[in-house]
Amino acid sequence: MQFLTSLFVSLALFGATGTATNFTGDVVNGVPVISYLNLSDVPTRSVSRYYLRVGELSGGLPVHIPVFVARGTPESLESGKKLSLSAAIHGDELNGVRVVQRIFAQLEGQVESLNGTVIGIPTVNPMGIYLNQRNYFTSHNSGWLTNINRVFPGTAAVDGGSLPELLAYNIWNNVWANKSQVDVGIDLHTPSSGAETSLWCYADFRLPYVERLAKLLQPDTLKIDPGEPGSIETTFVSNSIPSITVEMGLAKVWNASLIDRVYDFVNRVLDDLDIVPSNSTQAYSPDLSKTYIATTFHDSVSTYGGFVEQLVTVDEPVTKGQPIANIRNAFGDILETIYSPETGKMFQSPQDPSIEPGASVGQIAYNSTDPECADGCIL
Ligand SMILES: *[C@@H]1O[C@H](CO)[C@@H](O)[C@H](O)[C@H]1NC(C)=O
Ligand SMILES: *[C@@H]1O[C@H](CO)[C@@H](O)[C@H](O)[C@H]1NC(C)=O
Ligand SMILES: *[C@@H]1O[C@H](CO)[C@@H](O)[C@H](O)[C@H]1NC(C)=O
Ligand SMILES: *[C@@H]1O[C@H](CO)[C@@H](O)[C@H](O)[C@H]1NC(C)=O
Ligand SMILES: *[C@@H]1O[C@H](CO)[C@@H](O)[C@H](O)[C@H]1NC(C)=O
Ligand SMILES: *[C@@H]1O[C@H](CO)[C@@H](O)[C@H](O)[C@H]1NC(C)=O
Ligand SMILES: *[C@@H]1O[C@H](CO)[C@@H](O)[C@H](O)[C@H]1NC(C)=O
Ligand SMILES: [Zn+2]
Repeated sequence: MQFLTSLFVSLALFGATGTATNFTGDVVNGVPVISYLNLSDVPTRSVSRYYLRVGELSGGLPVHIPVFVARGTPESLESGKKLSLSAAIHGDELNGVRVVQRIFAQLEGQVESLNGTVIGIPTVNPMGIYLNQRNYFTSHNSGWLTNINRVFPGTAAVDGGSLPELLAYNIWNNVWANKSQVDVGIDLHTPSSGAETSLWCYADFRLPYVERLAKLLQPDTLKIDPGEPGSIETTFVSNSIPSITVEMGLAKVWNASLIDRVYDFVNRVLDDLDIVPSNSTQAYSPDLSKTYIATTFHDSVSTYGGFVEQLVTVDEPVTKGQPIANIRNAFGDILETIYSPETGKMFQSPQDPSIEPGASVGQIAYNSTDPECADGCIL
């Protein structure tokens, strides 16, 4: 009877308060496969690796995504902070992959005294990486591509979720446990293939700590922004979890200096959250001397298909009315010249000269005087 009572109590608790880590029994590349992560089941003072089972492709091929967890001292699961690092939700955006890998290699040496937990997903979108492009491929109805960074927190299979929606659902609910296993989230990107930038971030200053997080990055441009519905960042922020989206360099290129800068940033965050022992009793004071802070982006687009000749490079200041690009036809004639709509800074521009109508010839950051842009906008 006592046994039955306690069984009943634990079943009731199980339903109400959470679930144990679910090992499917599979092992992939020597790594155990799970369908649910409960941080309290992860070994303390170690870095663990898992594959999360997120669904099956048509025909039944299972889909797994790699997950790192660094746990520190036993009590720090409760008393310390929990940081999430994610990268490559867009399959061509690879600089962040190396940042996550390097942080977990470093954490191997710090877990003995680590005061908190770090969860890392180095490749959120293995399908996009496999297809060497941004989106997730779904094959039915002749196939289409989904931007996974617009479908968070996803849709369960029982509610009709498609593969990309299921991927988002499984990460949100079965790794981050519907946000309860994350206190701060950093999502790492680069511009899409064909575009170029240095280092910038989206940050929704309306939620406390987001501004501090963005400033710890010491980016070249800091975009105050209300966020994109369905993105990892905005899903965290709308659930009161401070988060930023970091954009670094070029798609499909590992840029060592930018990887170093973002790796250093993650270390400043680990320090700021007290997850690693601090070197100083004083909070780090970010160096923002090279950071351009702006509420507004304007994307200038081409009217024609042809070739874009840039007249301004990334991070160059621009004045209103300054020519920023020529669009040339196949014979080299200039079809149009594009002028900067405002005084500001070119923070992102095409690297690929071939262009089609409606595509970006350059993005300018500035502060709009429109009061509607106070929390950030894209015009
Ligand atoms: C993890 O398991 C513990 C009990 O072992 C439970 O209290 C907790 O709610 C679970 N957490 C999650 C996120 O499922
Ligand atoms: C564990 O995962 C298996 C599939 O891998 C699933 O059938 C089962 O319902 C899961 N159990 C729990 C408690 O989530
Ligand atoms: C661990 O982190 C928590 C939360 O930030 C903090 O309150 C606590 O002082 C830290 N403990 C140590 C030993 O650094
Ligand atoms: C996630 O948490 C929210 C409340 O914060 C709740 O409304 C929702 O049902 C939860 N989702 C799941 C899948 O449990
Ligand atoms: C890496 O990015 C920086 C900053 O945008 C740039 O100046 C540098 O040329 C890039 N390095 C390589 C090797 O591409
Ligand atoms: C703290 O100091 C150690 C040893 O000097 C150094 O390796 C580490 O990078 C420093 N951490 C931070 C966050 O500055
Ligand atoms: C734009 O406005 C923000 C405050 O919203 C301010 O911090 C920043 O310095 C301004 N940037 C420029 C270029 O004036
Ligand atoms: Zn992206």
